[in-house]
Amino acid sequence: MNDMHTHILPGIDDGSKDAETSIEMIKRLSAEGVRKIVLTPHFYASRNSVDSFLAKRAAALDRLCEAAEGVELGAELYIGAEVLFMDSLDRVEGFERMAIEGTKYLLLEMPFTAWTSRTLETVYRITSNGITPIIAHFERYIPIVKDMNMIYELPRLGCVMQMNAENFRSFFPKRKALKFFAEGTARLLGSDAHNLTSRPPEVKLAYDAVAEKLGEEKRREITALGDSILAGATRVI
Ligand SMILES: [Fe+2]
Repeated sequence: MNDMHTHILPGIDDGSKDAETSIEMIKRLSAEGVRKIVLTPHFYASRNSVDSFLAKRAAALDRLCEAAEGVELGAELYIGAEVLFMDSLDRVEGFERMAIEGTKYLLLEMPFTAWTSRTLETVYRITSNGITPIIAHFERYIPIVKDMNMIYELPRLGCVMQMNAENFRSFFPKRKALKFFAEGTARLLGSDAHNLTSRPPEVKLAYDAVAEKLGEEKRREITALGDSILAGATRVI
């Protein structure tokens, strides 16, 4: 299993507050059987330049590496960012450096306001630049966008759709989540973990539900896709 979306990197966004919490979060995931974790702190192009964000991210990673020295984490760590969409994001200087390091896959958070044709045009231009967006928790945009055609347009443009594991905690969201995995719209899972309590590092419940309802092969498919994306990525720890 892998976790493609986390806020485990310490002291950089509203996720883990310090390196000790981060290590505990990583250990929780590895105890579940997660072997690859991507660190994806929030990036807002309206607030930060790419350079200043990457400098802050490198410092946070240094703190984590230092604290993790000699600790058996049980999982490989990779680094990227969760990039909040904005119109003309493709024109933000160096935005492609936000991709998971060593890959062309970029975790993209879509707007939580109404989407327009310009929204999809920007996504189209991003994919035309050779970047493959991984759409962060795509299920969260459905109540906002309402028009499912706009959601389905994203995989047609080449995006890979990631769902949050929390959907598998309650009956109706779980039923919907399974439908999206069954039809092949949802293809990756993430915990989107921010801390140890309210938004915890848990992803296994989702993989287990998929295996139970859709078959072991489906679970393998989700893991294999994440692993293949990370096959070319730079391991940071
Ligand atoms: Fe997130």
